[in-house]
Parts: sequence; C-alpha cells; structure tokens
Amino acid sequence: MHDPTETPSLADPVTGDPVRPVSGLPRVLVVDDEASLRHLLRVILERLGYPLVEAGDGEEALALLDAHPDVRIVLSDVRMPRLSGLDLLRRLRERGVFVVMMSAYASTDLAVEALREGAYDFISKPFRADEIRACLQRIVEREQLAEENRKLRARVREQEEIDGFIGRSAAAREVMAVIERVASYPSTVLLTGESGTGKELLAHALHRRSPRADRPLVAVNCAAIPENLLESELFGHERGAFTGANRAHAGLFEQADGGTLLLDEIGDMPLVLQAKLLRVLEDGRVRRIGASRDLPVDVRVVAATARDLAEDAERGRFRRDLYFRLNVVHVRIPPLRERVDDIPLLTEVLIERAANRLGRDVRGASPEAMRCLVEFPWPGNVRQLENALERAVLMASGPRVELNDLPAELRHHGDADASPSTDGLLHAVPADTSDLSIKRHGAELERALIREALVRTGGNRSQAARLLDISYKALVYKVRNYGLEES
Ligand SMILES: Nc1ncnc2c1ncn2[C@@H]1O[C@H](COP(=O)(O)OP(=O)(O)OP(=O)(O)O)[C@@H](O)[C@H]1O
Ligand SMILES: [Mg+2]
Repeated sequence: MHDPTETPSLADPVTGDPVRPVSGLPRVLVVDDEASLRHLLRVILERLGYPLVEAGDGEEALALLDAHPDVRIVLSDVRMPRLSGLDLLRRLRERGVFVVMMSAYASTDLAVEALREGAYDFISKPFRADEIRACLQRIVEREQLAEENRKLRARVREQEEIDGFIGRSAAAREVMAVIERVASYPSTVLLTGESGTGKELLAHALHRRSPRADRPLVAVNCAAIPENLLESELFGHERGAFTGANRAHAGLFEQADGGTLLLDEIGDMPLVLQAKLLRVLEDGRVRRIGASRDLPVDVRVVAATARDLAEDAERGRFRRDLYFRLNVVHVRIPPLRERVDDIPLLTEVLIERAANRLGRDVRGASPEAMRCLVEFPWPGNVRQLENALERAVLMASGPRVELNDLPAELRHHGDADASPSTDGLLHAVPADTSDLSIKRHGAELERALIREALVRTGGNRSQAARLLDISYKALVYKVRNYGLEES
C-alpha cells in the first residue's frame, strides 16, 4: 500500500511536455502481484498526478476499495494468486468504477472476454507509459463530460422543479411561480386540486422557502379527526376543560408557533370550527378550551382541499367569510389530464427516483409506453402515475420501462370503449350514416378535435392551437363558430 507523498512532477513522462495542471484527478487502484510492475505504474501515475493505492491481488484490492471509496479507476493484472483479475472484474461490475485490465498473456480472446465482462479497456504488457496516460485521460474526460451533463440536466430541471414538485406545462410553471412569489410572506395560502395533484408537496415547498423554515411545519388532516376532538387538537385545552382532560394540552396552533400550520382537507372542517378558525386567523390569537385568556400565536396557515370551496360556500357547506379569508392567495393545481405536457418529464423523473429507491437500473420509457401514459386520464393524478411507474420499474426486465411493464388497466384503457373525452372523435362519423358529405362530417370531426384539444389543455387556447396545428386566431374563431366557448 502506498500513498503519494512527494509532489508529483508536472511533466509528461514521455514527451517531457508540461502536463496541464489538473486538480482533482481520480484515485487509481493498481492491482498486480509483481512488485516491480506496481513500482513502474507508481512512477508513471505519480508523474501524471494521479493519487493511487496498490494491491498485490484481487482480495486485497476489494479490501482497499472499501477503505478508499474515492477510487474511480482500477488498473488490474489478469493472472494473480487468490482472486484473479477477471473475478475481480466481475465483483466490481456494480461499483461504478472503470476497470482497465493488463496482461502479458494477451490474446484476443482474453481481451474480448474482459471487455465483455465490463472492463473499460485492455492493455497488453509490456506497455508504454503513454498508453497508460492516454487510457486514463480518456476515462477522466469521459467522467468530466458525464459530470457536466449531470450538472446541466440538474440546472435545466431546477426551473422545472421546486422542492420535488415537477412540471413544465404552462399551468405547472404558473403554480411554481406563485409558490415562489408568496412563500416568504406570512399570508394564508389556499391550495386546491384533485387528490394526488401535489398539494401537500407544495405546502412543504411554501414552508421550506419561507423564513419560517427552521420552525416546525405542523400538518393536520381535518377530515381524519373526529369533530369533537378537532377543536382541542387545533386550539388546545386547559386541565379539566372537559371530562377526560386530565392535563393541559397545547393545540396545533401553539405547536406551530413561528412556523406553518397545514390544514389539510379544510373543506371537511365542521362549520362551528370554521367560525373559530376565522377568529384565530383574524386576531392572531388562540384560546385553549376552558381557558380565560387568549395566547398570541404567529402561524402561517396553508389550507388544502380537493373540494370546490367556492361552490361549497355558495351552497352553505362552507363559511363564505372563511372562504374569502383563505382565498387571498389561491393556488389551483389542475388535474394531470389537463396538463399532459407534464407527463413525459414526470415519467422520466419518477422512474429515475423509483429506480434509485429500489436499486434498479432502469431509465426512461419506450415510445409505446409513453404514448399509453400520455393518453391515460389519471383520475388519481401524479400519485397514481407515481405508483404505476414504481410497479413498472419493478416489472421491467430491460433497461427501460416497456408497454408490457405498465399495469393492465393502463394498457387496456380505451381498448373496448373510448374514454369520455375521445368519444366525440370516434363517433364523428356514425357507421350507419347514408350521408357521406365530407363538408358536413369534416366540420363534425373538426369540432371534435378542437373539443379534445381544449379538454387536454385544460382550456388553454394557445396550447390547444399548437396541438391542432392552427393559428391562435383561427382557433378563437372556430371555437366561437362551433359554440365551444364553455369547453
Ligand atoms: N408535480 C409533481 N411532481 C412530482 N411529484 C408529485 C407531483 N405532484 C404530486 N406528486 C407526488 O404524488 C404524490 C401525491 O402528492 P400529494 O400528497 O402532495 O397530493 P395531494 O394533492 O396532497 O393529494 P390528496 O388530496 O390525496 O391528499 C406524492 O408522492 C407526491 O410526491
Ligand atoms: Mg394531501
């Protein structure tokens, strides 16, 4: 074992040219049973500036790799006692290191076998110093390129993600922009969207991006707690306030003091409590049940619901005054089927996350699988997509998710009867019609296509125009003409 202590000379060992100063060269592990060869490689590598460690056989090499996780390149002899080079190579396959095999008994067969087993390169002994240099240089450049790509991808993705919420559709970008803009203020935020659209994710993003991030985020599901308990959960109670109140209890508002309180499923909060909540929001003070004094609290409230609060308020199921108080900043997250642009990106990222979590080597989806994913209406939104992809990653036998890896209900969706939104398309030409006028049926088809485009884009006309391949102006005209204003 040897660690370089002398300053490496910065001259090329062969040409004598100055080697461009390189910082952060990867550590190399040299494995050979011949001490003289290790010595030779040490001289070469030190001159090139590579930090290195040395092992006399495969077993020792494995132990050294554990001790030096920064080793990126292994230069290994083939014939060695104990664990041979090829066996070592097989053991290293999962480790993500570059293995270069060296042998004096170089035959094409051996080289081919080494490469097939995952070696990066094969060098026959005796070698020249510049062969070693060129080989290592290729690896370093390849790594740098990969690193730059990784960084680039991360940067691109950054604008398409805040704290785990991903999207690139106009609607998703708008949601992210509003979250970013309001996060630092104490204003109440109302998040609405169908189940699985990421309301909870965004509540966490709001908290993390606020000056309150180092204080607690306390979440309560208003639908999950029985009505009689919810009040004391939220506002707390004094000892003896009611039967069973054996000790005083600080409510969630007090627990969230200085931080954020997420009132999830607020649409399900009983009306009586809604009145009390409104008072707390307006006064910034809570009173525990059974207490005679108010306590000041500094809490940022984020409310979330899958219900249509405006309609509930209209019908008297939700207090109008509370609705208006919560509605100051209202972030509506459209269902996934109305922002199909997000599906390919979500698919890519969610597959990557699932694969990392499950330790599987799967990336991306085949075009057929992607088409299926984009066409499915996703009633359970991103949560459902996430679950389907996790399953697909487990099922996948190849390097990417194929159509067959997707759950059957996705694959057969639309087989027998069309989804409601494509209904119009399929029935644009009734089978038993005697009228074959292209003009009349053409208009019907056009109307159906426009309707479909508007449904898919959540009524976003510029996006719909793009899907339909017509100008925005033409679309506005046609929408009026076909009486599709409500779509
Ligand atoms: N835009 C998104 N990008 C990445 N992941 C998302 C996105 N939206 C939702 N998810 C994921 O989907 C799952 C459901 O999200 P979340 O719990 O935030 O939904 P929700 O709107 O609170 O649903 P519910 O109303 O059922 O409580 C989570 O695993 C979340 O990480
Ligand atoms: Mg939720």
